Amino acid sequence: MNKDRVKLAVVGVGNMGSFHVRDLAKQATAELVAICDIDREKADRYASEFGVPAFYDYREMLDRATLDGVVIATPHYDHTPISIDAFKRGLHVLVEKPIAVHVKDARKMIAAYQEARKVKPDLVFAIMFQQRTYGFWRKIKSLIDDGELGKLVRTTWIITDWFRTQAYYDSGGWRATWRGEGGGVLLNQCPHNLDLFQWFTGMPRRVAGFASIGKYHNIEVEDEVTGYFEYENGMVGHFITTTAESPGTNRLEIVGENGKLVFEDGKLTFVRNRQSMFTFSKTSKSAFDKVEAWEINIPYHHHGEGGHRFVLENFARAILFGEPLIARGEEGLNSLTLSNAMMLSSWLKKPVELPLDEDEYEARLMELVRTSRFQKPAPVALDEDLNKSFGFH
Ligand SMILES: NC(=O)c1ccc[n+]([C@@H]2O[C@H](COP(=O)([O-])OP(=O)(O)OC[C@H]3O[C@@H](n4cnc5c(N)ncnc54)[C@H](O)[C@@H]3O)[C@@H](O)[C@H]2O)c1
Repeated sequence: MNKDRVKLAVVGVGNMGSFHVRDLAKQATAELVAICDIDREKADRYASEFGVPAFYDYREMLDRATLDGVVIATPHYDHTPISIDAFKRGLHVLVEKPIAVHVKDARKMIAAYQEARKVKPDLVFAIMFQQRTYGFWRKIKSLIDDGELGKLVRTTWIITDWFRTQAYYDSGGWRATWRGEGGGVLLNQCPHNLDLFQWFTGMPRRVAGFASIGKYHNIEVEDEVTGYFEYENGMVGHFITTTAESPGTNRLEIVGENGKLVFEDGKLTFVRNRQSMFTFSKTSKSAFDKVEAWEINIPYHHHGEGGHRFVLENFARAILFGEPLIARGEEGLNSLTLSNAMMLSSWLKKPVELPLDEDEYEARLMELVRTSRFQKPAPVALDEDLNKSFGFH
């Protein structure tokens, strides 16, 4: 694209979209040109603050505004139709996480993107996985990719510090319902962790999930989940999460033949084996000796921000100059597959193989939507800084 700044619009200016609007307004490579929200008051408020037109229907905005692309920050189900309609008009898309509610919807988005690229090959599809910019996650990724751990054996992530109160769940009518959100902790809080999990170690071939529905909150979706993953290369994975634990834990352990990498409380430690534990196990004459190991504090540089603005800037530079994306939209399929697979396994009470039976997942989800009798209390707005919800997650 032969110009200095891309013209972008934000669809959905709630908690997250209002941050994106502010970030975009400060960017050198992007220009905020329109705002859309079905809540007229919100759309008008941000449009007047930033001096751009307000729209209340995204299709009208896509047709009438002069745009290069859209940033989608609506509730999850709407990610699919808005992305597809944008691609049909040849517009670039940056979608918030999760890419969609279920894998079939995500595939429709990817198909629309691929179709649109036949006409416009440099079309960009990105997803907001801002945690991929965090220094400690990048360091872990590079250590694994460089083979420092050798053959991987186990990855365990206890991520139980996504604490949310009942007031949080009561604050948005769409939250924590099958019809409005399409899931709970896996779909709302965990997409970042599930994305990082697959970014570090790839996708499993088999998934078992154990999910509790509304165990600690008055909600109809999952608020406590344990997942177990098996990989082609023999590695096993554990993913343990909830929104009910305070203080909760965020501990990631990745074990390979060359040692154990642990990230917890901001500290990245590598307990490095002097030789492969497999070689030692085969050759040692002792029954109980362990491999000599050294504890190393791994340094990393972290920017210390939420990181969304880096993904927005990268999106604009990808459009302008072809810069590689921090996270390609299609990659959102993997974390969503893990999320859907854990839920399907939990419903079926048995492990599921990947690729996932997408039709069955969609059918079961739609049945939950259809038969829902859950009465959500009237939304009570929160007046809180969204920054409090970010952190080391
Ligand atoms: N990347 C992150 O760190 C992060 C953090 C929080 C939320 N999110 C994601 O951002 C998205 C929005 O979450 P939120 O917490 O901001 O929700 P929210 O309820 O605060 O805001 C959603 C906004 O979208 C508007 N909206 C709904 N349907 C619309 C439509 N069809 N067209 C236009 N506007 C529409 C609503 O009126 C509301 O203003 C979700 O996908 C969520 O998972 C991402």
